Amino acid sequence: MRILVTGGAGFIGSNLVRRFLSDGDSVAVIDDLSTGFADNLTGLDIDFFVASILDENALAGAAAGAEAIVHLAALGSVPRSVENPVASHSANATGTLMVLEAARRERAYVTAASSSSVYGSVPDLPRVESLPTRPMSPYAASKLATESYVLAYGTSYDLPTLPFRFFNVYGQRQAAGHVYAAVIPTFIDAALRGVPLPLNGDGLQSRDFTFVDTVTWVLADAVHRRVRSSVPVNLAIGANVTLLDLIAELEQLLCRELPVEHRSDRVGDVRASQSNPVLLRELFPDVPEIPFRTGLTATVDWFQNPQSSSQATVD
Ligand SMILES: NC(=O)c1ccc[n+]([C@@H]2O[C@H](COP(=O)([O-])OP(=O)(O)OC[C@H]3O[C@@H](n4cnc5c(N)ncnc54)[C@H](O)[C@@H]3O)[C@@H](O)[C@H]2O)c1
Repeated sequence: MRILVTGGAGFIGSNLVRRFLSDGDSVAVIDDLSTGFADNLTGLDIDFFVASILDENALAGAAAGAEAIVHLAALGSVPRSVENPVASHSANATGTLMVLEAARRERAYVTAASSSSVYGSVPDLPRVESLPTRPMSPYAASKLATESYVLAYGTSYDLPTLPFRFFNVYGQRQAAGHVYAAVIPTFIDAALRGVPLPLNGDGLQSRDFTFVDTVTWVLADAVHRRVRSSVPVNLAIGANVTLLDLIAELEQLLCRELPVEHRSDRVGDVRASQSNPVLLRELFPDVPEIPFRTGLTATVDWFQNPQSSSQATVD
């Protein structure tokens, strides 16, 4: 298949591009490198458009002939959106609309990344898709716009679409060392540099950490089978790991105690996040459920030796 991956130079995108290539697909990427890296795609046989999805002409060129679009381009991070909500809205909400317009012209299948953050302050756990949404940050609101537009194009234009709600994805090629980095790369990077782990809050916040190979497996399967859904689908397998659990796992893997630097809670962060994966399993009965220890080990290995081509843990 000819597939366009928006945001393909980012963490999840660059893992996904490798999966599509190994499946024999032809891949185009559009990425403005605002948070991604061209190096993530070095040596891969793809058509790479370095441009914003907000650039209509560049996007049309990248989407030409695409049978499917996986829409991952976005400005991630809750704190980034609290600092600059307009930038997050432009990339995430307006950007999604642009991508859907390109898909409508090509009659392409579309799957896109929304986020578990849309559940926000809804107290019920685990999260099932029928719960209401209550965004707590501009990022979450922009992701609610993303998934809403994807659903609306499904019904208004009979475009085959499937919005996913990603939970906390981790794995090889996730960027560390920047102010908006996610917690797992931040902790691994600090541990390997021998500096204290920066811990916001009391460490009892919990997350449904999902290994990137599970996410790319599901996305590729969705594209190849053109799976559509009239509701957003949680893409996580129901893990419930606190940040203190994460630190303990890292201490076991690295065989030493890891000092922690305590910081205050972050504005807009949810306390607990866990998926109820019933709908995911219904649509993707063979979804690979990779244990946290396995995924974390592969991630630490990659941080210790980033040049190694990471081995996929699932076929
Ligand atoms: N990683 C997670 O835990 C997580 C959780 C929930 C949702 N998501 C969503 O999954 C998607 C991928 O996330 P990621 O972790 O790989 O992040 P990432 O920042 O590594 O990748 C996003 C990519 O999009 C690109 N991009 C941003 N704005 C763009 C624009 N206007 N035009 C073109 N490219 C643009 C960036 O340069 C980057 O390469 C995002 O939509 C994100 O919101 C991720």
